Amino acid sequence: MTSADLLIRGARLLTLAPVRQEGPRVGPVASDLGVADDGWVAARDGVIVATGRGSSWERLELTAGCVERQVTGRVVMPGFVDPHTHLCYAGERWNEFTTRKSGADYLAVLERGGGIHATVRATRDAEDVTLLSLIRTRLAHAAALGTTTIEVKSGYGLEPEEELRQLRLIAQLRDEAAIDIAPTYLGAHALPARHIDHRKRFFAEVEQALEVVAAERLAEAVDAFIEKGVFDDDEVRPFFKKAIDLGLAVTAHVDQLNDVGGAAFAARIGARSADHVANASAEGLRALAKAGTVAVLLPGSALFVGYAPPDARRFIAARVPVAIATDHNPGTSPLEGMPTAIALGAVLCGLSPQEAIVAATVNAAHALGRGDRCGALVEGRRADIVILETDDERDLAYRLGAPLVREVYAAGRRIAGGPDA
Ligand code: NIG
Ligand code: FE
Repeated sequence: MTSADLLIRGARLLTLAPVRQEGPRVGPVASDLGVADDGWVAARDGVIVATGRGSSWERLELTAGCVERQVTGRVVMPGFVDPHTHLCYAGERWNEFTTRKSGADYLAVLERGGGIHATVRATRDAEDVTLLSLIRTRLAHAAALGTTTIEVKSGYGLEPEEELRQLRLIAQLRDEAAIDIAPTYLGAHALPARHIDHRKRFFAEVEQALEVVAAERLAEAVDAFIEKGVFDDDEVRPFFKKAIDLGLAVTAHVDQLNDVGGAAFAARIGARSADHVANASAEGLRALAKAGTVAVLLPGSALFVGYAPPDARRFIAARVPVAIATDHNPGTSPLEGMPTAIALGAVLCGLSPQEAIVAATVNAAHALGRGDRCGALVEGRRADIVILETDDERDLAYRLGAPLVREVYAAGRRIAGGPDA
């Protein structure tokens, strides 16, 4: 008999269970939520042991302290996976955000030593305890909004030593956090001023730091900002190749403000995901589809910076797996929480509500190399579960800003909200 210490029943259950095969979803299954009305999900020791419908849960053996929730009229679904954030920073960028009018302005501010560089100065000046507490608060906000797996990038250190400090702080939080953290070394976010005439030397130092990152297991992936006037594929390639040789995954900020051929580059190098891609060419999309690279759409940044958001219909039509993320950062995307990202993915990028939910769960999990661990309510996966204050999941795409997340469970333990919330 299957035994359970957590049972949530009577739900409109979205299992997101694999339809034909595992893997990032494209085509018709990219909108299949695996709905079970009057459904239930059971877990034991933090892992899902079974799901079903109606009263079939009665066959379970419930442990003495089993947490049992009867949630008629509510949607129950996998915890959200946020596959792209820059949570590790200090200082806000109030002035820049109200004066900026376009992506061109964004790059001009960066060129003048503001933008990313402003956050780098504030983050470097922040002591460990301060930075830890800022990130902790942001993780708690994300969790309260239903995120149970989150990518956290470094990237506001620029100088490799400072990047390593930030990664070590992220690693400390990874060990203590209730939600699952996937750390990324964003080694090439902007060029530090002292390297303006020594780009090669900068990359030599970044590549050296990579060895420490791999040896100390400080990151699962590396990232770079490939953009006009920032970094190009030729200078980033050796960094990415070395990362792959060291067993790290690759993800990249590409074609955000200009088409620089970044999507095709990411696909060719075997990146796990290509992120932003608002200006990716048709050729770039074909390359992503062929390689099975997940396109992570970041509509928050298009909204705040004021450029045309990525058109999700192009990606869906080209059979590119689509994920969405908050891109939370103080410069281009101060928004918090996956429900907002889902709504923007629908309203700005043109995803259907169902596609946006797949993009925020299954496909986002694949973007983080966790396709078999989270993103679906399936036996053997982590019991990361969200209970929504609605009986219709389309509310996630529709009621922008509504407090829809009622309870959040990470590895079977309630981490936010509750029956009395
Ligand atoms: O994803 N574009 C590059 N990186 C971040 C923004 C960083 C910043 O402006 O602080 C992004 O948009
Ligand atoms: Fe980003």
